[in-house]
Amino acid sequence: MVETNIQLRDKRILEIGCGHALPLIYCLQRGAHSTFQDYNHEVIKTLTIPNVIVNSNAAIQTLHQPRFISGDWKHVNQLLKDEKFDIILASDTLYSIQSFRKQIDLINDHLDSGGICLMAAKSFYFGVGGSMFEFKQLVASEKRHHLEVVKSINDGTSNMREIIGIRLKEN
Ligand SMILES: C[S@@+](CC[C@H](N)C(=O)[O-])C[C@H]1O[C@@H](n2cnc3c(N)ncnc32)[C@H](O)[C@@H]1O
Repeated sequence: MVETNIQLRDKRILEIGCGHALPLIYCLQRGAHSTFQDYNHEVIKTLTIPNVIVNSNAAIQTLHQPRFISGDWKHVNQLLKDEKFDIILASDTLYSIQSFRKQIDLINDHLDSGGICLMAAKSFYFGVGGSMFEFKQLVASEKRHHLEVVKSINDGTSNMREIIGIRLKEN
């Protein structure tokens, strides 16, 4: 978001599988409407909310109250109904191939027509099967998204990583 120069103020932003939620905390601090989502309530209560509090201070402008939701990606619909977001964020959520379908469905259902989903992940998750490569293949096979590689990190010091941008094609 820093490099793509996306304006964050008043944007509706959802981070899925947020955990510590640094990407969305960055947006919250810059005036976004922020919805934090993770699988279980305990993670939200003991990890996400304390981290939001620690990272909020008077010097930083938090314009909108954050919202926190928990549950499987498959059931996010039940809470969000047909709500749309300008930006959907995800970091390190592609380690299990079994969850790819749920994440794509969530993007299809909740990304606004002019919005972008930014996903950061390792190129390969050794031993657990997930990979950015296979996720991109599945997205491309649907032929209903524009997909771009926003950033590729391959500096030889750690795992190869990528950030991709997904937009919905107009019907
Ligand atoms: C590897 S952690 C990444 C956490 C955080 N985004 C980060 O980058 O530090 C993956 C996160 O995805 C969440 N997650 C995994 N499967 C999920 C599912 N089916 N529904 C909702 N959240 C899920 C986990 O609870 C976990 O917080």
